[in-house]
Amino acid sequence: MATVPPIKSQGIKTKLSAWIKVHAESRSYTRWIEPFMGTGSVVFNVQPEKAILCDTNPHLINFYNAVKSGSITSAKAREHLSHEGSELLRSNGEHYYIVRNRFNATGDPLDFLFLSRSCFNGMMRFSKRGNFNVPFCKKPNRFAPALVTKICNQIENVSKIIHRNDYQFLCQDFQDTIDSADSQDMIYCDPPYIGRHVDYFDSWDVSLELRLRNSLVGSDANFMISTWLENKYRKNSYIGEIWGGCYISTIEHFYHVGAKESNRNKITEALLTNYSTKMSIDVLRPESNVQVMHHMAGTLL
Ligand SMILES: C[S@@+](CC[C@H](N)C(=O)[O-])C[C@H]1O[C@@H](n2cnc3c(N)ncnc32)[C@H](O)[C@@H]1O
Repeated sequence: MATVPPIKSQGIKTKLSAWIKVHAESRSYTRWIEPFMGTGSVVFNVQPEKAILCDTNPHLINFYNAVKSGSITSAKAREHLSHEGSELLRSNGEHYYIVRNRFNATGDPLDFLFLSRSCFNGMMRFSKRGNFNVPFCKKPNRFAPALVTKICNQIENVSKIIHRNDYQFLCQDFQDTIDSADSQDMIYCDPPYIGRHVDYFDSWDVSLELRLRNSLVGSDANFMISTWLENKYRKNSYIGEIWGGCYISTIEHFYHVGAKESNRNKITEALLTNYSTKMSIDVLRPESNVQVMHHMAGTLL
């Protein structure tokens, strides 16, 4: 069973983490470096002993540093979500906006958790000023005891992983993270997808994709990058243009935005590596149940 992080986002990689892990395991490394950690879904499933986990979104880093220091525990989260959840129900949902305003003024990590689990479709989106701006999911009884328990178990699970291992959480740009890597490290990058969603902490363009490529190519470490190859409408032409010379594996994936079937967006995910991998189809098939291909990026496109 995959470890599911307590924080949600539209780009979460939980369901792809087993596939990513197989690619990582084809090389030995002493430290896992993740310049775009997001919700942490990949590191919590790979579970390396030592990791540097970074993001420019300070709320993600604050949240996991609070779990690491013990200022957020499953018991504290239960107390917070139960209390705020009962206010949410009593106010018929209005309380969501009180918590959102409070979070945008103070950045409280427990409020961040509350918003992540009660906002519309579990989205993470910030305005130009860096304010969380996702509306309420419109379910005043959102924090029923079963959901609170589920979230607390998720906190308990990631907390055990963080405390069992040597993890550092840093709020910094990917360039600083990659520059700190050495030849013994494995770098896994999951940048915002070029040509796709964009917000205050998630803006991305060709110049950043090129800067990422140059930092990775300049590093001595093995690296992996998640990106997208194609969807129903388009192909990602940047793969051939920017990442030629890397190896590529692809897998079909559905990003879920909310629970509705109609909100399942099919995409062909790609994993680029600077080393060739010998993938075991037996390990991948039960997880993904989809066609798996393995090609050189340069020859594929
Ligand atoms: C696609 S998400 C990562 C998702 C993650 N793998 C997960 O499963 O949750 C990309 C992340 O990159 C972060 N980010 C955007 N620009 C960045 C930059 N210049 N340096 C570091 N992180 C950045 C965003 O805040 C976001 O959390």
